[in-house]
Amino acid sequence: MPGIPVLMPRARSHTAGTPVRRAASARFAPAAAPVIAIDGPSASGKGTIAQGVAQALGYHYLDSGALYRLVALAAMSATTSLDDEAALAACARSLQASFENGEIFLRGERVTDAIRSEDCGKGASRVAALPEVRAALLARQRGFRAPPGLVADGRDMGTVVFPDALLKVFLTASAEARADRRYKQLKEKGIDANIHTLLRELRERDERDSARRTAPLQKAADARELDSTGLSIAEVVYQVLEWHRQITAKVAGSNR
Ligand code: C5P
Repeated sequence: MPGIPVLMPRARSHTAGTPVRRAASARFAPAAAPVIAIDGPSASGKGTIAQGVAQALGYHYLDSGALYRLVALAAMSATTSLDDEAALAACARSLQASFENGEIFLRGERVTDAIRSEDCGKGASRVAALPEVRAALLARQRGFRAPPGLVADGRDMGTVVFPDALLKVFLTASAEARADRRYKQLKEKGIDANIHTLLRELRERDERDSARRTAPLQKAADARELDSTGLSIAEVVYQVLEWHRQITAKVAGSNR
């Protein structure tokens, strides 16, 4: 693994977290825009890495987990049962969500922090197991694909949503390392947490996400696995950018 990067290739303006406005332009050249798919278990650092890569390349960013969290939040606030698949799918289809400058809004209300609660995470994992909900969110996710490119993070970006992604990364870390990262994040925010409870909940979520029938968490056959245990954020971002650079150079070479 190389050291901390000194230079990020082709740095451009930061577009991470502003996908809605740009999603509209996806209608004009969706197939042309390259996708970097970053999948992996909860708290493996996908969001941080995906945003770092998007920023370095000037690409758009899709946090697909946020969509499932938004469906869970919308359902919970409307007291819709998290087992009512038809009602949840309707909720997913009519979801009034927007992403602006790193902030997330539901029906115009800022919910950036609210969707990060453990309750919302658990609810998201439950609604995400329902095939109708997943189907309802598919086109919306694909709509984020727009030039100059997209970095998408989730569980099924490389397997289901963007099977033709230019680069697929399966980001892992030991359950202990992931629980430790989450613990530190919560502490930094002044939220009381218990590391043993966090570890248990992470394992439960991994189990639910991997065991479900529809779009389970799994490494795509053509994904590159990256174990981030013991690596810094900069090292992981660097590795993804390096893979991207190699693939892009190869594609350019074969087009000559
Ligand atoms: O990534 P995040 O923890 O925000 O995702 C919340 C939940 O949404 C996950 O536990 C998973 O069940 C679900 N999810 C999914 N497919 C995705 C992204 C998230 O099933 N592409």
